[in-house]
Amino acid sequence: MRKKIVAGNWKMNNTLQEGVKLAQDVNAILAKEAPKCTVILGTPFIHLADVVRNVDNKLVKVSAENCADKEKGAYTGEVSAAMVKSTGAEYVILGHSERRAYYGETDEILKNKVDLALANGLQVIFCIGEVLEQREANQQNEVVKAQVENALFHLSAEQFSQIVLAYEPVWAIGTGKTATSAQAEEIHAYIRSVVAAKYGNQVADDTTILYGGSCKASNAPELFAQPDVDGGLIGGASLKAEDFHGIIAAFK
Ligand code: PGA
Repeated sequence: MRKKIVAGNWKMNNTLQEGVKLAQDVNAILAKEAPKCTVILGTPFIHLADVVRNVDNKLVKVSAENCADKEKGAYTGEVSAAMVKSTGAEYVILGHSERRAYYGETDEILKNKVDLALANGLQVIFCIGEVLEQREANQQNEVVKAQVENALFHLSAEQFSQIVLAYEPVWAIGTGKTATSAQAEEIHAYIRSVVAAKYGNQVADDTTILYGGSCKASNAPELFAQPDVDGGLIGGASLKAEDFHGIIAAFK
């Protein structure tokens, strides 16, 4: 059975103190009523160790939002997968469209990051998704197929089991414009078929595929009810504990 997941992606928000408070608030809400899905907080690097210490690991898992494409050494300002792992974080978000668009992360760079993350015992939340012009040209399927193939399909089936996919149409991120549940289901089913063609039906069936892009408490139940939508990667609505909990509560 594949995991249901609601993962927050704080992006570049919250001071250390604000982030710790938010994590404590999320943890306190979930301590009252255990979530029916895996809950992950994706935080900036500097928050990781403190957030890990401030949540109950049975209720809340912690993720970085990035890691370096090099193992270690003279790479000023970078943070390695081993460093992320040493904080107690269990996941890392890789391939987010903001990293691809603003920091020039190519499939080749992402492939290295994925390899280093897995080699250091991190699970990867790997983001894929098309931009508006590609959607308008009906190229979304070929775009996500290439993103998955180029950065992930060198992995063994066992390694691939450590990957969570997150489909995030770039036109829906932070725009208030959500893919309809039908649009999400259609492309999630397609992504699963791409995984099945490479790794077989069992692996594809066990792969968690999250939806991301203006997901909130009001639209999460319908999105998550789709057979191939296994939860969400949440940006803006993960920055307030109540809003984030509203999405987690979509899994009853
Ligand atoms: P959003 O961001 O929920 O604010 O649209 C999602 C994401 O970028 O992961």
